[in-house]
Amino acid sequence: MLVVLTCSVSLLSHHEECLALFEFKQTILHQNSYAGGFQKLDSWRKIRSNTSDSDCCLFDGVVCSNTGRVIALDWSGSSLSGVINSTSTLFKLVHLQMLYLSMNNFVESHIPSEIARLKQLRSLDLSYSGFNGQIPNEISHLVQLSSLDLSGNPLKLRSIGLEYLLQNMTRLENLHLSAVDISSSIPRFLANFSSLRSIILAGCQLQDELPSAIFHLPKLKYLNIRNNSNLTGFLPEFHNNTLLELLSLFSTGFNGIIPESISNLNHLKVLDLERCYFTGRIPGSLPNLTQLTYLSLYDNKFIGQVPSLASLLKLTALGLGHNSLEIGRA
Ligand SMILES: *[C@@H]1O[C@H](CO)[C@@H](O)[C@H](O)[C@H]1NC(C)=O
Ligand SMILES: *[C@@H]1O[C@H](CO)[C@@H](O)[C@H](O)[C@H]1NC(C)=O
Ligand SMILES: *[C@@H]1O[C@H](CO)[C@@H](O)[C@H](O)[C@H]1NC(C)=O
Ligand SMILES: *[C@@H]1O[C@H](CO)[C@@H](O)[C@H](O)[C@H]1NC(C)=O
Ligand SMILES: *[C@@H]1O[C@H](CO)[C@@H](O)[C@H](O)[C@H]1NC(C)=O
Ligand SMILES: *[C@@H]1O[C@H](CO)[C@@H](O)[C@H](O)[C@H]1NC(C)=O
Ligand SMILES: *[C@@H]1O[C@H](CO)[C@@H](O)[C@H](O)[C@H]1NC(C)=O
Repeated sequence: MLVVLTCSVSLLSHHEECLALFEFKQTILHQNSYAGGFQKLDSWRKIRSNTSDSDCCLFDGVVCSNTGRVIALDWSGSSLSGVINSTSTLFKLVHLQMLYLSMNNFVESHIPSEIARLKQLRSLDLSYSGFNGQIPNEISHLVQLSSLDLSGNPLKLRSIGLEYLLQNMTRLENLHLSAVDISSSIPRFLANFSSLRSIILAGCQLQDELPSAIFHLPKLKYLNIRNNSNLTGFLPEFHNNTLLELLSLFSTGFNGIIPESISNLNHLKVLDLERCYFTGRIPGSLPNLTQLTYLSLYDNKFIGQVPSLASLLKLTALGLGHNSLEIGRA
C-alpha cells in the first residue's frame, strides 16, 4: 500500500512543536558574557534541562494559544549566538504570530527564505542581530505582517527593492529598516497603507523623491528618514488631523520652504530638519507647536528673522546655526 504523506508541517502536535523549539534552541549558543535579561537566562536554563515532556509553553518568552500552539516567541536580548540556517526547526513553528529575536548575534548568517513558511507572522523583529546578506524575496509573502523590524543589520535589499518587498503588506503599522541598504525609492503605494504608524528608514541609501502623500497617512506618528542624502522631497501643506510626533529629515536632500500650515502638526515633539536644503523664512506659526521638545533647523538656507520661540516651553534642544538668519530681536 502506498501511503502519501502530505508534507504539511502544520500537522505538528503540541509535543512536536515543543521538540522543534528545543531543537532550535540547541542549535544556538547562549553567551553568558554580559549581564542583562535575568529572566531570559533563567528560561534558557529551563530549556537546557530539556526534559522533552516538559511543556515549552511554560518557558519565558514563549506564548501558546489555548490549543497549545506556539504563537509567540520573544527571545530578544537573550545573548544568543549561532546560525539560523534553512533547516532550522524554528521554521516548523508555523503558528507563530510574533517572532522577536532582536539584539542577539546570529553571526552574519543570512535570513533563510524558509522564514516565509511562518505565514501567520504579524510581527517580526530581527533588529540588531547580526544578520547579513540579501533580504530574501520570500519575506514579501508575509502579508499578515503589521510590524517588520530588520533595523541595524548589514542587510541589503538591492536585488528586490522596497516596492517588491512591501507590495502586499497592506496591514503594516511599523516599518523599521534603518541601516538596511535599500538603494531604491520609497514606493508611492506606501501612502495608501493607512495603518502605518511608524516609518523608520534611517541610513538606508534611499533614492529619488519621497511621495509627499506619506505625510498625510492618517495614523502616522513617527517618520524618521534621516541620513539618506540622495532622498529628496518637500513639505506639503499639513492638515489639522495629524498625529505626527516625530519628523526627522536630518541630512536628506529635502528642500523648499516650511509651510505655515506646519502649525497643524499639533502633536509634534521632534522636528529635525538639520543639514537639508530648506529655504525661505521660518514660519511665524512655528511657535504654535507648543509640544516641541527638539527643534533643529541647523545648516539650511533659512533667511529672515527668527520668530519668538518663547511659547515653546518644553524645548530642550534648539539648533538654528549655519543659516542666513538675522540676529537681533528674538
Ligand atoms: C544547519 O545547522 C544545523 C545545526 O547547526 C546543522 O546540523 C546542519 O548541517 C546545517 N544545515 C545546513 C544545510 O547548513
Ligand atoms: C536531553 O539531555 C540528555 C542528557 O543531557 C540527553 O541524553 C537526551 O537525549 C536529551 N533529550 C532531548 C530530547 O534532547
Ligand atoms: C502580491 O499579490 C498579488 C495578488 O495576489 C500577487 O500576484 C503577487 O505575486 C504578490 N506579490 C508578492 C511579492 O508576493
Ligand atoms: C492608492 O489608492 C487609491 C484609492 O484606492 C488608488 O486610486 C491609487 O491608485 C492607489 N495608489 C497607489 C500608488 O497604489
Ligand atoms: C548618491 O547617488 C550617487 C550618484 O548616483 C552615488 O554615487 C552615491 O553613492 C549615492 N549616495 C548614497 C549615500 O546613496
Ligand atoms: C485642529 O485640531 C485641534 C484638535 O486636534 C483643535 O483644537 C483645533 O481647533 C483645530 N484647528 C483648526 C485650525 O482647525
Ligand atoms: C497660533 O496660535 C495663536 C494663539 O493660539 C492663534 O491665534 C494663531 O491663529 C495660530 N496661528 C497659526 C498659524 O495657527
